[in-house]
Formats: sequence, structure tokens, C-alpha cells
Amino acid sequence: MRHHILRVLIAVAACSLSAMRAEAACDAPANWLPNTPDPTYQAVLPPHPQPDCPFYQAAWQHFLFVMQPDGKSTRFLRTYSTIPELFGAEHNFQFAREKAGILSLAPRVAQLPNEKLLNTPGNPPGIDAGINQAGPLRGLLIDGNGNPIYYAIHVNGVFSDFIKTNKLTTKTALLNADPDKIEFGEGAIELKSAWQIVTPALRRADYFITQARVPILEVKDGDVVPGTGTRDVEVALIAIHVVFVLKGHPEFIWATFEHVGANGLRDNAPAAASNAPSGTTVISATDWPLYRAGTPASAANLPNSVAERFAHFNPATQSFDKGGVISTPVYRMFPASKSDTTDEDDDISAVNTSMTALFKGGTLAPEDARQHYQLVGAIWLDNPARDFKSGVLFQNDDGQTTDSAGAMVAGEDRLSSTAMESFTQAADQRPNCFSCHNTKRVTDDRTGATIIPAKRLNVSHVLSKFLSELP
Ligand code: HEC
Repeated sequence: MRHHILRVLIAVAACSLSAMRAEAACDAPANWLPNTPDPTYQAVLPPHPQPDCPFYQAAWQHFLFVMQPDGKSTRFLRTYSTIPELFGAEHNFQFAREKAGILSLAPRVAQLPNEKLLNTPGNPPGIDAGINQAGPLRGLLIDGNGNPIYYAIHVNGVFSDFIKTNKLTTKTALLNADPDKIEFGEGAIELKSAWQIVTPALRRADYFITQARVPILEVKDGDVVPGTGTRDVEVALIAIHVVFVLKGHPEFIWATFEHVGANGLRDNAPAAASNAPSGTTVISATDWPLYRAGTPASAANLPNSVAERFAHFNPATQSFDKGGVISTPVYRMFPASKSDTTDEDDDISAVNTSMTALFKGGTLAPEDARQHYQLVGAIWLDNPARDFKSGVLFQNDDGQTTDSAGAMVAGEDRLSSTAMESFTQAADQRPNCFSCHNTKRVTDDRTGATIIPAKRLNVSHVLSKFLSELP
């Protein structure tokens, strides 16, 4: 907000009323639609006290670019690489075995950070506290219909060329990569998308919908696990992380988008009215795709147990609907994705409003689904030249906001996607994307042993999780 005043001052100094309006509004340029130009940035975006707006504009332009319609599909689904495409078809992890032309998905489960944060005796519980359940589907996210939410990861050509050029296709190569000399280059993009199975109630025109292949879930040893068989389903995109390297920002700008309803409001899950509401607070009286009407805060944002999943899993429907549908209700714990306020950043509201106007401006094909998604927030390092080093957990000091002078982290310091970081919003370590995507070492979740030492490359789990899991 502070940046607005500054921007107005700059604009006034430039003696141009129109420049002032354009600047203060954090506008979306009209030439972004219908064919979004390739987001290339000639200059390094300036740090604070310069405004945050250009980072949010960059986030929108990257979203529009990757989601550019391509027939019935989108640019990223048609042309970007998946994890098995990067590391070999035999390494499909929990993703469904790939078939050309169809999106392959994995069940959305709880993730772990690089190094388990502060989870030692005497310290507060780690960011993954409460999701330490046995089994490959621990922390499974289940929607209001009893269906798992699924996800995908894609990277662009700059990213996959980087992997090839640096021969980063084996764990040994990753172990040998210089901790500070090798970092992702300008133009690299990685995406993580969340998908909900389409049911008659969800078959609405205002989602991007596509065919996808998901693993068939099986009952095994008292647990539900993804098997090797697959089935094809229709899925709707409910949220997407759009993460990209700008000139001078090898840490990536971490941005996230979620679906919005006809009223222009995010509608996957409700947001709390205040930051971290008390446990008895009922977040919403109505049903949302990821929230059950009337659920109090204390019963939301929690994964269910192996026993509960096992009791309700119905192999015939592949849904958790046996003896009554179960779900894992989710809400946004920090309504503005900020620790110090519940008011959304002015620049985010402004650029979202400006995009809504552009979408309504008539240049868009009616089936162009980009108009049904909106920027939630973004996070980046204010001074990467100073702070982007190996072995660092990127976070601001206690009492600092993202606008404080000298703060390491800029943007939304409590940013999570309700559809992806659903269960890790509450941890004591003020979680945001950098809590898990940082340059610290990667450890074995059970033993604490080092798997990959501290590296700049560890910001991307494409390497620090997937490549590091290869034999
Ligand atoms: C609780 C830890 C955690 C948090 C918080 C988190 N991530 Fe991730 N993220 C992961 C893990 C682990 C993976 C690897 C895939 C998986 O297991 O889901 C991943 C994968 C990704 C990917 C795919 C590319 C890659 O680097 O692997 C993107 C993009 C991504 N996350 C973006 C974000 C954004 C944006 C945020 C903040 C809004 C965020 N993540 C917050 C743990 C986290």
C-alpha cells in the first residue's frame, strides 16, 4: 500500500496525469489479449521501495501465456514437459502412466519441505506436523463429492533445456552440481495445477475442462494406495501455481491463481474473516467444492486418517463414499495471504480488476477459460543478489512485514493455494512457498539424514524431490 503513495509522487513529479492514473491502477496492458505476447523482460524489476505492481503484472502475463488456448487445449498442456518426460517414462512416481495427448495426473497428497523445519524437541512442531501418516496417500485432499483432488507438474522449454544442458538427469549429477554456481536461468517456468473430477453439478462452462488419466486406487494391507492401472476421467482446473525466473530473480517468482465464480470471487473454498480465526469459528454456512457447510476452523484444513479413508473407500466408484461421503474441508486461513493484514494488496486488486475489464472487453473467444481464474498473490526475494544463496530458508524476521526496509521476502508472506497447500497453512513457521521451496538441504523425512546437500537448485522440487528420489 505504502508503494502507492510513492508511485503517485513519482507520477506527479513526471507531471503527467495520465501516467499517474495508469501507474496507480496497476493496469493490465490491452495487448495481452487475445494472443498474449511471450513474457520477456529486458530490465531487472527494481526492489523496494519501488512498487510491487510489475511483479504481479508479470505473474498475470505468465498465466495468460501458459494458458493460451490451443484448440481445445492450452499451450502448457500441448507443449510443456512432465516429470516422466524429463527423467524417463519409467519414473512416473504417483502419476498415471502417460499416454500421448492426455493429461496424466497424481492424487494430491500433503507435501514435505526440503529440510524438516524446527521439528526438534523443544521447538514448535514442524510445518508438516499432523500429516505424518503412514501410506503413500497421506494427506490426501478429498472434495465435497468424496473424490480425490489430482495434480500435475509441467515445465517449459527453457527449464527442460536447462536440465539437458547441465545433464541433470541422474541423482549423482544433482549431488555433484555446484551449490552456488548452478541456478535456473531467465525464462524458466514451472507449473503445478490442481484438478477436480467433473460431476454433473460441476459441469459448468466457466472452468477449463479436459480429459485426464488418473491411477486406479486399490485397497492393500488396510490402506488405500494408487495402483498401476489407470482410468480416464473428465477434470476441471481449479487452481494453478505459475512460477517463473525473471532477469535477476533466479529464486523464481512464486505466483498462484485460483478459480473465480461469476461474481469474480474465488470459489474453491471460503476465506476466514480474520487471520487465523479461533477453532470454534464457522467459516461459511454454505457448501464449496473444497469445504463442507458449517465446518468450524478446528475441523478444517486437516487430512483424514488412514483408517477413515480405508473405511469409506469404494473401489467401484473410486470415491470415498462408502457409508456416507467423506471430505477434507479446507478454508483460506489468511484471507489476504499476508501475516499483518486482512486487506488484499492494492496492486493485486487493481491488476485483477483491470484484467476483468480486459476479459469483458470483447476481444476474447467465449470459450477462452482464462477469464475464470484470478491472481491470489505472489512471493519473491526483494534483493536476490544479497539473499539468494545455498543453505538459506527465505523468511522475514519476527515483526517484519514484506514492506519492511531490509525484509528478505516480498509479496504475500502467507501465500498458500487452498487446493494445493491445503493442510500446511497453519504451521508455526509462517508458511509460504519459500518454506518448502528454498536452498536448504533435502532430508529424509523419517531419519533426518541428508539426501541432497544445500543448493540453489533445491528451490525446485522437480530436482530436490523427483530427481533425488531416483535410484
Ligand atoms: C508444505 C510444503 C510446500 C509449500 C508450502 C509449497 N510447496 Fe510447492 N511443492 C512442494 C513439493 C513437495 C513439491 C513436489 C511435488 C509434490 O510432492 O507435490 C512441490 C511442487 C511445486 C511445483 C512444481 C515444480 C517444483 O518446483 O517441483 C510448483 C510450481 C510449486 N510447488 C509451487 C508452489 C507455490 C507457488 C507455493 C506457494 C503458494 C508452494 N509451491 C508452496 C512443497 C510445497
